[in-house]
Amino acid sequence: MCAMGLNLVEWSDDMSVDGRAIDESRKRLLSLINRMYDVMNNGCDTDTLQNILCDLADYAGYGFLEEEKLMSVSRFPERDEHITEHWAFINSLTVCIADFEKGSLVVSDTLRFLIRWVASHVRKSDVAFGRHLGPGVRRLDERSRVARALVA
Ligand SMILES: [Fe+2]
Repeated sequence: MCAMGLNLVEWSDDMSVDGRAIDESRKRLLSLINRMYDVMNNGCDTDTLQNILCDLADYAGYGFLEEEKLMSVSRFPERDEHITEHWAFINSLTVCIADFEKGSLVVSDTLRFLIRWVASHVRKSDVAFGRHLGPGVRRLDERSRVARALVA
């Protein structure tokens, strides 16, 4: 177990996409980046690093899938370009995991890649998708929540 130090990245509301599941996925990504930063500073065990990489793969798998489904439903015009960026992330993460398995992962390089992802994708491409969705998606989600509560 690592002692948590300073955070490298912080969530801010201007990074919001849907105010719900997609935002939670991004908050989890930031938390994983901060954990990896802690690993770099405090030299935690390989199990911790492996868990972080597994959770990053989960973020890329489940998180991207949910986002891409919503892009299709909402007819997001930049969907194809956005999905290409997701695949580039998956390819880079796959290389990181392969390097980890070979014992040659450089944590600082991995952090640089993740920080670039936050700057170029999370803060720009994802936010552009959030603008496309607009406040309507939050109202729709609120109605769904109320409907679920009524039938429960
Ligand atoms: Fe995305």
